[in-house]
Amino acid sequence: MSRTVGRSDRRTEKATHRVAVIAGDGIGPEVIEAAIPIIERAAGKHGVALAWERLPYGADHYLKTGETLPEKAFRKLRDDTDAIFLGAIGDPRVPGNEHARDILLGLRFKLDLYINFRPVRLLHPDLTPLRSDGRTVGQSDRNIDFVIFRENTEGVYLGRGRVEGQTYIAEEINTARGVERIIRAAFEWARTHGKTRVTMSDKSNAVPAHRVWQEQFKAVAAAHAGIEAEHRYVDALAMDLVRKPERFQVIVTNNLYGDILSDLGAGLVGGLGFAASANLHPGRAGLFEPVHGSAPPLAGKGVANPVAAVLTGALMLEQLGHAEPARALERAVKETLAAGVRSPDAGGTATTRDVAAAIIDRI
Ligand code: NAD
Ligand code: IPM
Ligand code: MN
Repeated sequence: MSRTVGRSDRRTEKATHRVAVIAGDGIGPEVIEAAIPIIERAAGKHGVALAWERLPYGADHYLKTGETLPEKAFRKLRDDTDAIFLGAIGDPRVPGNEHARDILLGLRFKLDLYINFRPVRLLHPDLTPLRSDGRTVGQSDRNIDFVIFRENTEGVYLGRGRVEGQTYIAEEINTARGVERIIRAAFEWARTHGKTRVTMSDKSNAVPAHRVWQEQFKAVAAAHAGIEAEHRYVDALAMDLVRKPERFQVIVTNNLYGDILSDLGAGLVGGLGFAASANLHPGRAGLFEPVHGSAPPLAGKGVANPVAAVLTGALMLEQLGHAEPARALERAVKETLAAGVRSPDAGGTATTRDVAAAIIDRI
């Protein structure tokens, strides 16, 4: 089934898509370089040409030059790129994480990529830590398949606030326009993908500003008859996601809750090594990145799971208008997992290269 959000962007059958690569920090370069030949193979088999251009931004570059993401590079990403493929940003040598604020959050904000689309899908039954009734762990017949629409340009992430003596104040920004557009994106995706329920999550019982989520949700839901609009406070949703994840189809929530729930979602389906994401504004170049970070303890060991990066490539191809190679990537990943080729985070002994080789063999 197509997973495209909005109109497929920059869809031109014969054109070469320009993909800017920011491999970033820690395991970022390992998973990105493992994934690129796989994505390249799937694209090539379906007549899709990709031109990869590697950019040096990340902690090393920042520590060497003081540059996070220079304005010239930003303009190139904005004006002359069809997609950005990013590994992870975060390095213990940059404890304030200021380079991530400029590169990762900076791109989300400045490109106005208001949709952070994060699918949660069980790729093999024994990857979930949940059990089914009457079954033991690892023998699940669960069908977990939902997507999180995480608002990506507002909330506490804007970093607004101040320090007054010993009081540290963080402001959470929720605009009617920002809330409306992410909720609308979730309903539109539900409508075009045959989904029957959208779950909005906030904390309006404790945070007065979340009234805007209630108001906008009601208004957008009213325009989407036929799709059940349900609400869960985020604390209760966290519990229900563990207890009965298969009842959820589309979840829409704010920036911070979406961040937390997407790692919870990853945990339900095998961990961060399997979680892909796309930062989107329909009609513009998107930013595609695994949900996971730079995993500093794993960096340089060659054991990081490349599946999240490969599935992120599938989201990228899909958004560029190429559903067939996207499906081919997902199929190859599933077959690889079914064959038992797994990295240590998924209980196996395969290296990053082993997993990548097994996937590419199946394309
Ligand atoms: P993390 O996602 O890097 O790691 C969390 C856990 O998941 C660790 O146990 C790690 O080993 C494991 N893990 C993550 N990806 C994996 C993979 N591909 N294969 C196998 N195991 C994997 O999160 P963290 O430890 O909280 O953060 C580390 C750094 O990454 C921080 O600097 C953080 O800010 C940054 N970060 C960046 C991004 C991003 O760039 N998109 C996302 C999350 C965190
Ligand atoms: C993510 C990450 C980022 C976020 C961090 C690295 C700023 O956790 O993409 O999920 O919180 O958005
Ligand atoms: Mn996160």
